[in-house]
Amino acid sequence: MKFFIDTANLNDIAEAQALGVLDGVTTNPSLMAKEGITGAENILAHYQKICDLVDGDVSAEVISTDFEGMVSEGEKLAALHPQIVVKLPLIADGIKACKYFSDKGIRTNVTLVFSAGQALLAAKAGATYVSPFIGRLDDISTDGLNLIAEIRQIYDNYAFDTQILAASVRHTMHVIDCAKLGSDVMTGPLSSIKGLLKHPLTDIGLAKFLEDYKKGNQ
Ligand code: E4P
Repeated sequence: MKFFIDTANLNDIAEAQALGVLDGVTTNPSLMAKEGITGAENILAHYQKICDLVDGDVSAEVISTDFEGMVSEGEKLAALHPQIVVKLPLIADGIKACKYFSDKGIRTNVTLVFSAGQALLAAKAGATYVSPFIGRLDDISTDGLNLIAEIRQIYDNYAFDTQILAASVRHTMHVIDCAKLGSDVMTGPLSSIKGLLKHPLTDIGLAKFLEDYKKGNQ
């Protein structure tokens, strides 16, 4: 399973990259705003900085909600850097734009996916990635992980190439459960990745090893 980090924060991206397990980055307009990145030029410059920091795919989301606007924005984003994946919302014009980009060989990430039917549409339109938001489904007492399982089954039934990118991952158990369910990718905050390191027996065991070493090597 690929690990993407879901942030526009350069320090967090650099820390995950330094760990050696990062495969890419996802951003969205809210995450960019959180970092204070505003204005078309600054936004493009920030994507460039992210691409310089990591080796993998970097999802950059369009703001337009009409086909022509999405195509024009997406083409600018894709031209910025070969690592850029154009992120499109799952609305009718987003699906049309996904098909347009897919036919042109430009990679896409269809976002704001909350049902198996939406994921099926995105795959039919040739999406590179589909982003089901599991945390936001959990927030409204719906089983987000079940959506990952449903999409996995549908994509496997028809051998769709679209990769399932479990999004809105909130914590370490989401990461583990997505891996069990065969999600191709997960995107979450740095804490969801670093949380995988933690086990008290590892800390206790290491402390004991070091203590025993010191006894014999004074
Ligand atoms: C997906 O790519 C989104 O950026 C993201 O995962 C949304 O997560 P949130 O529900 O924690 O905002």
